[in-house]
Amino acid sequence: MEVRDRWGSRTSFVLASIGSAIGLGNVWRFPYICYANGGGAFLIAWLVALFTAGIPLMILEFGLGHKMQGAASEAFYKVNKKFEWFGWMAILVGFFIVCYYAVIMSYCFNYGIHSFTLAWGENTAKFFEKTIGLTQSPFEMGGFKKYIFLGLLTSWIFIVLSVWKGVKTVGKVVYATVIIPWILIIVFIIRGVTLPGAVDGLIFYLKPEFAKLLKPGVWLAAYTQVFFSLSVGFGIMIAYSSFLPRKSDIVNNAFIISMANCATSFLAGFAIFGALGYYANLLGKPVADVVAAGPGLAFVTYPHIISNLPFWQPLFGVLFFLMLLTLGIDSAFSLVEAVAAGVRDKWKLSHLTTNLSVGAIALILGIPLTFGAGLLWLDIVDNFINKFGLSLICLGECILIGWVFGSGKIREYVNSLSEFSIGKWWDFFIRFITPIVLLFLIIMELKDRIISSYEGYPRLAEFLGGWLVIILLPIIGIILMLVKRRGK
Ligand code: PHE
Repeated sequence: MEVRDRWGSRTSFVLASIGSAIGLGNVWRFPYICYANGGGAFLIAWLVALFTAGIPLMILEFGLGHKMQGAASEAFYKVNKKFEWFGWMAILVGFFIVCYYAVIMSYCFNYGIHSFTLAWGENTAKFFEKTIGLTQSPFEMGGFKKYIFLGLLTSWIFIVLSVWKGVKTVGKVVYATVIIPWILIIVFIIRGVTLPGAVDGLIFYLKPEFAKLLKPGVWLAAYTQVFFSLSVGFGIMIAYSSFLPRKSDIVNNAFIISMANCATSFLAGFAIFGALGYYANLLGKPVADVVAAGPGLAFVTYPHIISNLPFWQPLFGVLFFLMLLTLGIDSAFSLVEAVAAGVRDKWKLSHLTTNLSVGAIALILGIPLTFGAGLLWLDIVDNFINKFGLSLICLGECILIGWVFGSGKIREYVNSLSEFSIGKWWDFFIRFITPIVLLFLIIMELKDRIISSYEGYPRLAEFLGGWLVIILLPIIGIILMLVKRRGK
């Protein structure tokens, strides 16, 4: 009988889960969302979202993966044969994400190298457009960008090597990929807050506007951020917990991982907003005019700030992109391991075969994104996968486990293992609060998408990059379910 992979230690498992949760989202998404949704007051909504939905879902995924000893597809198959496709759907959401996540890592590689010479010059926006060959519309394909492709290939080599022997390798790699970015975040917090003008940025970041808590949009932003940030809904946590030994704590681990992730988000805000305060002062503009999130922050605003630091600019440049790379890589390989584990569970293939094939397919799917229009497509896919794919998976988990399978079974199972127990409140969150919030999120988003296309992209591009991907999820899920399993 084939023996399941096991984590070398509890620390390896905790670090790997933290590594998956802590990613680019903590640095380039959280601080901005916080500022835009009420600053310090947003922290209240965010903590409520964490305790009423984020942590309960993480406990659900850990409990399910551990009880069923299988990746998402296998775990749902064991819940009920008819649900296997749903597990595949969660895995597919993760798979599509890693296809473009690796492209962003490639940008980071390129920028890490550009840092040595501060190659972006004064007009960082123009430089970024040139680097990726950005075009005006998704249908204007643009040229193939060799260096972006080489960066993508490099990313994939690192990702595949990190999951080489499954969690045995992951458990070792995460010591570096979690601790290095933590150290670098501390470096950038110190650098950020000691710059002249930093205080203006920090005030901006955290000045509470309690009135905003009355707006539903602020609460939705809090819940979305929590789901995305904790990496629940991609099958990752299900796969990771399935490699835990039989006697393992669940509840305590879920709390530790969630808290570490949130603390990192909160602190990263100091690094980002400290630097933005300095930058605003330098340009003589209000902070509100210089704030940015996402790729714009990392590849346009921040390089400009780096060039204007008082000393050691190239060093800070290299360290900044190394920070992004080390933040991203453990999120990326967690996604790959979630896919590979599902494939191994069903068809009993070796690590070598699964890792190389998952890596190769994802690399190929990423190639179109290395063309000029790549970032535009990336943006569309990212929006739809996260707003619809992820919410649908989390909603499905709440319904299938909360109502069909019975949340009580997972609660009792988890309590029999954990240092401290969860009460009936957990069932209440899983069966009512989380699904209601998710349903609300999906409906609000649907309404927006009916009124206008995402970011004004042509409807056809929105369909191909967005809706089609969402429609393909259950279809491919069902196909994978129907393929005959191998072995026992
Ligand atoms: N949680 C990661 C972040 O905050 C993002 C991520 C999403 C990672 C999905 C893996 C899977 O950046």
